[in-house]
Amino acid sequence: MTERRTAAAELTQRAVDSLQACPDPRLRELLGSLIRALHGFAVENALTEAEWFAAIRFLTDVGQKCDDRRQEFILLSDTLGLSMMVDLVNHETGSDATESTVLGPFYVADSPWRNNDDAITDDLGSQPLLVTGHVRDTHGRPLSGAVVDVWQNATNRLYAVQDEQQSPDNLRGRFRTDADGAFAFRTLRPVDYPIPDDGPVGRMLKATGRHPWRPAHVHVIATAEGYAPVTTHFFDSESKYLDSDVVFGVKQSLVHTFVAHDPATDEAPSGILGPWYTTDVDIVLQPTDAAGKEG
Ligand code: BEZ
Ligand code: FE
Repeated sequence: MTERRTAAAELTQRAVDSLQACPDPRLRELLGSLIRALHGFAVENALTEAEWFAAIRFLTDVGQKCDDRRQEFILLSDTLGLSMMVDLVNHETGSDATESTVLGPFYVADSPWRNNDDAITDDLGSQPLLVTGHVRDTHGRPLSGAVVDVWQNATNRLYAVQDEQQSPDNLRGRFRTDADGAFAFRTLRPVDYPIPDDGPVGRMLKATGRHPWRPAHVHVIATAEGYAPVTTHFFDSESKYLDSDVVFGVKQSLVHTFVAHDPATDEAPSGILGPWYTTDVDIVLQPTDAAGKEG
């Protein structure tokens, strides 16, 4: 047993040492660390040859599922919590800035520019949601001219990019904040939805007794010149999946109440006939050069 452990340690060392001539120090560091983690994993778990081969088959399937529209490797990273771990490592926690979360596979660049108060869909359906908010800096000062890029799914659970029945611009749009840093748009209440689970990642979820659901949310990328952009969501506080998001993307600060309004008791905004919801979403950005922005 001890002999095996010594042989294992020597093998790991030789594999790490094989990188000595690597001219890129960061690549050497990362690969060396990955070798140590993989070797440690095999040793700790006494990985069998059959298990090693099953893993190779699985990763091959993941690669073969990828094409221009489907990125199964990112989905794997998301569902193993690696994407959110990279998010955690790269974004300060405890700062006043809005917290980030996963981008997800349904972002499409160059959404149509829209005016504040516009709807991002032609059909607000039976659960219209009116979103208002401000973009501010970490001192609370409004950021005028910031861009708020939003996208979400329809009531059939699908994003426009997944669904030929929807117009490609449905439920997405870019807004620019006004002089007060304010933005506003009309949409429909997003719904819980399963991530694409018809591939190897779906098989992995099933094999491990996990569900494929994400809690209802609207995606946001907010940008302003001189500030670090944020890729985030706002989640519906009433979703039953907040505690078990399949991609671990929920942060408490991103959970919002969608306040219900009834036309019998509240004055309906123009164009809204039945009940509706409102939510207010403040987005706080951090200066890229903190020193230069103080004062
Ligand atoms: C999304 O929220 O769009 C998403 C994020 C990660 C994986 C799948 C979907
Ligand atoms: Fe999403």
